[in-house]
Amino acid sequence: MFPEANKGYEDCKATADWLLAQTDVRPTVGIVCGSGLGGLADMLKDQVAFNYKDIPNFPQSTVHGHAGRLVFGTLKGRPCVCMQGRFHLYEGYPIQKITLPMRIFKLLGVETVMLTNAAGGLNHDFKVGDIMIIKDHLNMPGFAGNNPLAGPNDERFGVRFPCMSDAYDRELQQLAMDVGQELGYGDFLKEGVYCVLGGPSFETIAECRMLHKLGADAVGMSTAHEVIVARHCGMRVFALSLITNQAVMDYDSEEKANHEEVLQTGKQRAEQLERLVFTMVTKIEHN
Ligand code: 6GU
Repeated sequence: MFPEANKGYEDCKATADWLLAQTDVRPTVGIVCGSGLGGLADMLKDQVAFNYKDIPNFPQSTVHGHAGRLVFGTLKGRPCVCMQGRFHLYEGYPIQKITLPMRIFKLLGVETVMLTNAAGGLNHDFKVGDIMIIKDHLNMPGFAGNNPLAGPNDERFGVRFPCMSDAYDRELQQLAMDVGQELGYGDFLKEGVYCVLGGPSFETIAECRMLHKLGADAVGMSTAHEVIVARHCGMRVFALSLITNQAVMDYDSEEKANHEEVLQTGKQRAEQLERLVFTMVTKIEHN
């Protein structure tokens, strides 16, 4: 089961070399755009874009109408690569496939990975439209043995038992807070713990209550797997959740989320979230 799903170092290297042969951009920052947050890729200048289906060894988007794209370009002169569309467990991909782009990022020369997602809020202090700086995660599929690093370990990427207590770079979290203040985001910029589930069904009320008790502030279906693989191969990681809805925690609740309002807030905040990431990228120092 593993060798097929877990493309080896040579395959990742071949893909990275194939991409590098077709662009002059030498990215040091890799960005993963979450649902509704693909606008970041459109902000890149001097774009060279590849449809996922044309990239050797890349996972193929089989679902949805719109194909994913890997976009190279610059943000205020900083060379970046951006995944416009990502892969999820609920689409049926093996977990190693979902995270393969992180290894390709590494071999492209990426040093810092910035990930975004849409998530449900569990923290009672969160509102729809809040942007949460992810400071830690709960990897629920990992508890059940579905970890992207399961299987033979290739030391060229990283060690067998990688540390995760420093997964989310503290300096980048501080930079996000500083940039957020500067941009006037103080009222809706939060921080918290992201919990990943397999999906595609949303959580029951009992499950939301459990996750909240376990220390989760937001729940979603992505990001943590990519973070594990990115940290394994030594890239710095920063991640943000856009709180698009409040998870239902109460059987008596008469409240129903106003879908229109959620969409509106989501859309408006997406641009602000993209602005935050954009500004951070222009301030990150690389050696
Ligand atoms: Cl409420 N749950 C999950 N699992 N993912 C989400 C979400 C909720 N809202 C946006 N993405």
